[in-house]
Amino acid sequence: MTVAVYLPSEEKTHWWVEMLQGLLPGWDIASIEDIKDRAAVKHAVVWRPRPGDLATFPHLEVIVSIGAGIDHVLADPELPADVPIIRTVGDDLTQRMREYVALHVLRHHRDMPRQLQAQAEKDWHAIVVPVAPNRTVGVMGLGNLGAAAAETLSGLGFATRGWSKSEKTIQGVETYAGAGTLDAFLSGCEILVNLLPLTDATTGILKADLFGKLAPGACVINCARGGHLVDDDLLAALKSGHIKQATLDVFHIEPLPTDHPFWDHPAITVTPHVASQIDAATGGRLIAANLKSFAETGTCPDMADAARGY
Ligand SMILES: NC(=O)c1ccc[n+]([C@@H]2O[C@H](COP(=O)([O-])OP(=O)(O)OC[C@H]3O[C@@H](n4cnc5c(N)ncnc54)[C@H](OP(=O)(O)O)[C@@H]3O)[C@@H](O)[C@H]2O)c1
Repeated sequence: MTVAVYLPSEEKTHWWVEMLQGLLPGWDIASIEDIKDRAAVKHAVVWRPRPGDLATFPHLEVIVSIGAGIDHVLADPELPADVPIIRTVGDDLTQRMREYVALHVLRHHRDMPRQLQAQAEKDWHAIVVPVAPNRTVGVMGLGNLGAAAAETLSGLGFATRGWSKSEKTIQGVETYAGAGTLDAFLSGCEILVNLLPLTDATTGILKADLFGKLAPGACVINCARGGHLVDDDLLAALKSGHIKQATLDVFHIEPLPTDHPFWDHPAITVTPHVASQIDAATGGRLIAANLKSFAETGTCPDMADAARGY
């Protein structure tokens, strides 16, 4: 079995090659750069593949995304058609996202930025906020990560809503399904968490029109993909005060360019795409298990649906 590995960092690529070699003894695993016989490659394990690279393997049987999203694979205009894609998910990824969402929702809920500002001014300023059941929080996307985030927020006592394409039942969460319910889902939402996949239908969904439907003074947390957000619309909504604060983990260009206005904005918290990184050792074990399962049975539990886009 020849497996080609590519990540944008050469150092990380070699690290993943060595780890997968240890986990899949007997398999021929190499960096894309070191593959001599491209016709022998049946599996590709990639993060943000370079456009055209995957098309150079004529007998490719499966592509593994080193991450939950497959948008970075689908972005390749020369992606070979009909090659199945496996995503990499797992309990660690879900746990980390639960932590990130809880941290930032609580931070907005308790208005920590204002509290820290008061401390800087040596101002003994008590901020009074509603109790969590009187705070409405909405989670867009109720997949692997969104459902877990919504469960966590509900467990913290928030009035929690969730929005997805198909109907879901999650204990303690008021669920909405389909584009026709989006306005009702957004209405009165005070903290919005985006955990949608990046697809044609969701690109640019965090825009002026959507912000306008949230409660005045709402906070927005984007921990899905930068392409969901219309940057200028967020800046305008912050300027008008309709959106009070935002936490952004993902951006159109990563790393976020140093001259981007988000860096210095007093109402924006920037984190460097760390909401839920795959722990490399755990991710390696998941990828090895999925590759073995795919080689033996032609499928595995983490198959993505390329036609659907996630
Ligand atoms: N920041 C980070 O560190 C980080 C880490 C990992 C992942 N991510 C990102 O987090 C996001 C969520 O990942 P995931 O693994 O939870 O995704 P997922 O399991 O594929 O779930 C996607 C959810 O979004 C819903 N959805 C898709 N298109 C929709 C539409 N047009 N309208 C309404 N709902 C729609 C789906 O509805 P159905 O269930 O009805 O299909 C599903 O509930 C992705 O963008 C991923 O790239 C970020």
